Amino acid sequence: MEIQELDTSDPAALRAWHGAMERAVRADRPHALLSTYAAFEVTATAPSTYYARTWLRAVEGGEVVGTAELELPLEENLDVGWCEVAVLPDHRRRGTGRALSDAVAERARRAGRTRLGAEVTVDLVVPGPGHAFAAAMGAEDKHREDHLLADLPVTPAPIDPAYDLVAWQGRCPDEHRAAYLAMRNQMNADVPIGELDLDVEVLDDARLASSEERLMKAYDVRVAAARRRSDGTFGGYSLLFVPHGSDLAWQDDTLVMPEHRGHRLGAALKTANYAALPPRIRQVHTWTAPSNAAMHHTNTALGFRVVEHVYEVEAVIA
Ligand SMILES: CC(C)(COP(=O)(O)OP(=O)(O)OC[C@H]1O[C@@H](n2cnc3c(N)ncnc32)[C@H](O)[C@@H]1OP(=O)(O)O)[C@@H](O)C(=O)NCCC(=O)NCCS
Repeated sequence: MEIQELDTSDPAALRAWHGAMERAVRADRPHALLSTYAAFEVTATAPSTYYARTWLRAVEGGEVVGTAELELPLEENLDVGWCEVAVLPDHRRRGTGRALSDAVAERARRAGRTRLGAEVTVDLVVPGPGHAFAAAMGAEDKHREDHLLADLPVTPAPIDPAYDLVAWQGRCPDEHRAAYLAMRNQMNADVPIGELDLDVEVLDDARLASSEERLMKAYDVRVAAARRRSDGTFGGYSLLFVPHGSDLAWQDDTLVMPEHRGHRLGAALKTANYAALPPRIRQVHTWTAPSNAAMHHTNTALGFRVVEHVYEVEAVIA
């Protein structure tokens, strides 16, 4: 077995890497939401200014039997790297996961990182080996979120009549950008992260534009926002992605600004986005910390059910 760096200019190698990653993860996570090949291809072939990424593969007899990804933030959290490791079921418990993890840690260390983080996702019915593996690699739990799933359609929650719904797809229109940026940055500052010690990512117009442009290559990006009629201020937004060609949606941020809370805007914005989806979209995935009682309750009241636990873990690699 040999650990190799993926040549991102080789389309066949990209396909093989993605196929192996999918088979390895799906083996014990029937509800996993994985990036589509198209989304992976965008990330792998069009490097971001804000993150440096490396992909590794474990190869045995010409076959990819394990995969790893390392992501290094370049603007903030310069002491941290994030990784994912997966090994095909028939090739487990032979040291391949450890070899991939060591190779990732070595690269992170060389880039000056002292902490390596990962998300370990565990199915509620059939818990896989991920958590035991992470602990064996020296990682400790820092935060937990739930992965929830809802079947569409869900009953729409009407918007408070004091607000207008403002929705767009793709790039945020110029006239709403300042308000949208303020809300996105409030979200980044407010979202609970448990014991994780991380700098908050600050979005400016250029970073938002870069993110929109990259996302739109692989996702239908939909935003629903609430604007108070009396003074035109934005009270919240909800961000939804639909991977191109897929039958599911991925509920990302939902934020209600502090002075606009208590009007059930979160449920109204989410369901407004769902109601506008093409009928082929049958399921929505989302992630919420159980400690985030308001959002967790909003989600379960809409019909979301918890299918997986996501542990944010971290190992010291200095
Ligand atoms: C987790 C995973 C990558 C492990 O791959 P692997 O090649 O089997 O790992 P290794 O053989 O190198 O195991 C290293 C150590 O992890 C621990 N470990 C691995 N699988 C385990 C299991 N099923 N139960 C308990 N401990 C386990 C052991 O301590 C093991 O050392 P040992 O075999 O000397 O006892 C693989 O099971 C997988 O792909 N799972 C799905 C994806 C995932 O959960 N990834 C982790 C999140 S980043």
